[in-house]
Amino acid sequence: MQQLRDRIKTDGKVLSAEVLKVDSFLNHQIDPELMMAIGEEYASRFAEEGITKILTIESSGIAPAVMAGLKLGIPVVFARKKKSLTLTDGLYSSNVHSFTKNVTSEISVSKDFIKKEDHLLIIDDFLANGQAVLGLLDIVEQAGASLAGIGIVIEKGFQPGGKLIRERGIRVESLAIIKSLKEGTIEFYEEETV
Ligand code: G4P
Ligand code: NA
Ligand code: NA
Repeated sequence: MQQLRDRIKTDGKVLSAEVLKVDSFLNHQIDPELMMAIGEEYASRFAEEGITKILTIESSGIAPAVMAGLKLGIPVVFARKKKSLTLTDGLYSSNVHSFTKNVTSEISVSKDFIKKEDHLLIIDDFLANGQAVLGLLDIVEQAGASLAGIGIVIEKGFQPGGKLIRERGIRVESLAIIKSLKEGTIEFYEEETV
């Protein structure tokens, strides 16, 4: 998605060869017009899939997910990152380990909001090691729901998440795929899926 790649080039800050900061339009301040364009892009890519609901994870997945839900005319559910290991009745939950932050957190979704009849689209802001997506996939499986695919805003193509998920035969649509952040320079893959 050219508009997104342009925005990353203009406003993204390379913090290291591994980390891109996009706080000015995605992770802290949010640009609603860009989010709307992103939502429209997912809606058009997944238009024929018969999706009933979008599943994302708080906090930064919510904005693009809500815009996609608005365009597709379907609800959006976000997994909560909760600390408590008690009171898990009525919840699907999964453990997500962040290699970046070196913490494991439990994510959960109420059983009220995902049913086995649902056909889901997962959306998230970043795909790095893929652990958050694996946690969401675990929840989809627990619910017995089906999956249309995964929409990612920014995939770091040099980290293993994308390969890990695509190897399972899952459709991953990343709107920008970063090839490299070396020497402070942002390089993209031309194709939007690898
Ligand atoms: P993984 O799910 O792909 O394994 O990701 P990882 O544990 O490496 O990332 C942990 C958090 O950092 C996630 O956000 C993820 O979206 C974010 N992240 C990973 N790489 C980058 C990066 O290069 N730039 C930015 N800006 N974020 C990155 P989170 O902790 O869930 O936070 P939230 O923003 O959703 O609240
Ligand atoms: Na994030
Ligand atoms: Na996220």
